[in-house]
Amino acid sequence: MDPIDLQELGQRSLSSIIEEDLIPDHAWFLTELEEQIERSAGLDPGVDDSSTLVQQSLHQALEQLRAHINSEELVVFPLILAGRGSEARESVRGLEDEHLDIAEQITVARKAVDERLGQGQGDPDWVALQESMIRFERRMKRHTAIEYSVLFPRMLCEEDESAGE
Ligand SMILES: [Fe+2]
Ligand SMILES: [Fe+2]
Repeated sequence: MDPIDLQELGQRSLSSIIEEDLIPDHAWFLTELEEQIERSAGLDPGVDDSSTLVQQSLHQALEQLRAHINSEELVVFPLILAGRGSEARESVRGLEDEHLDIAEQITVARKAVDERLGQGQGDPDWVALQESMIRFERRMKRHTAIEYSVLFPRMLCEEDESAGE
């Protein structure tokens, strides 16, 4: 996953960013997280039962992520696509907190996986889960950076510009 290219994104319309980047990311996040949960259910729990903590955190992250994606795809994105982005100003404030909550759950799960592997107790299933989590975090970082640094600021200023005409 490449880091975000602000120049390239700056030349694209918000609708293409939403439809070609953000919405496909959402589908990928949900599938990947569901797979991680399934994978974590099959792990050897170990002496400290760390697989249960991993599972619980991922479950919580999935719930929060589903609600978050619904807010974006059913409320915020349609307003932006309709050129009414400023009406989403309040909803966007909530989304920023949700990004942090989701990242926190993912971090709890990731820490438990890292610790388990650090103790030399990791079998290949734990390694596979860790790799999947690293991919997930990388793409999520890029995704939220596009939302924060490109989509939300532009959705407000593009409308201000058109309102001032
Ligand atoms: Fe998103
Ligand atoms: Fe988001």
